[in-house]
Amino acid sequence: MRVIAIDGPAGAGKSTVARRVAAATGLPFLDTGAMYRCVALSVLRHSVDPNDHDATAAVARRLEVRVDGEKVEMDGEDVSSAIREPGVNSVVSVIAAHGGVRDVMRGAQREWATRAGGGVVEGRDIGTVVFPDADVKIFLTASPMRRAARRVEQSGGDIHEVARSIEDRDRIDSTRQDSPLRPAEGSITVDSSDMTVDQVVEAIVRHYRDKCGEDR
Ligand code: DC
Repeated sequence: MRVIAIDGPAGAGKSTVARRVAAATGLPFLDTGAMYRCVALSVLRHSVDPNDHDATAAVARRLEVRVDGEKVEMDGEDVSSAIREPGVNSVVSVIAAHGGVRDVMRGAQREWATRAGGGVVEGRDIGTVVFPDADVKIFLTASPMRRAARRVEQSGGDIHEVARSIEDRDRIDSTRQDSPLRPAEGSITVDSSDMTVDQVVEAIVRHYRDKCGEDR
């Protein structure tokens, strides 16, 4: 099973890059952040306390999440846009810090990869915890201002507010006890601040081909 793990903070360009790497290598693509976002959306809709470890884990266990490229379905409903709304942004990191939620998500991610026969998987703990034996592990980052500017280009908003929200999420994601965001052992750090998407994709694909051979 071939796995390319791409981890990094919010706004580093992981989804765009992972999608393009998937197209170039013929591997399927999984956005694991979308799975945590589904749990957050369901928690909000059912007025569950985002700080409640057991209640949020129960929501995660009950949910049927399907991520197919960019299309995200939760219990049969297309929630591809709903999971990107500001309400979800503001609680998703708190919910993703709960070990019970992460257990369910990790299980689902490993099942997905087994069924798909490998893939390009992006998130926060993919190279460190979910697939520590991944063929290629990338830690994709960029300066906080570049990351905020990219988010504003994509979805609008005030740059300072966006930067604050990104910093809040980074802090929660990298200081949590269970699988904090950090570069995995054996990973390559790519700082995309001054790189184009093409350059980042090329660097990752080249590294994958060097390691795994052209024909795989
Ligand atoms: O990549 P994203 O912004 O869609 O991720 C949303 C949140 O989900 C992020 O703040 C942290 C969490 N997450 C995580 O903890 N582990 C992952 N593998 C993916 C996302």
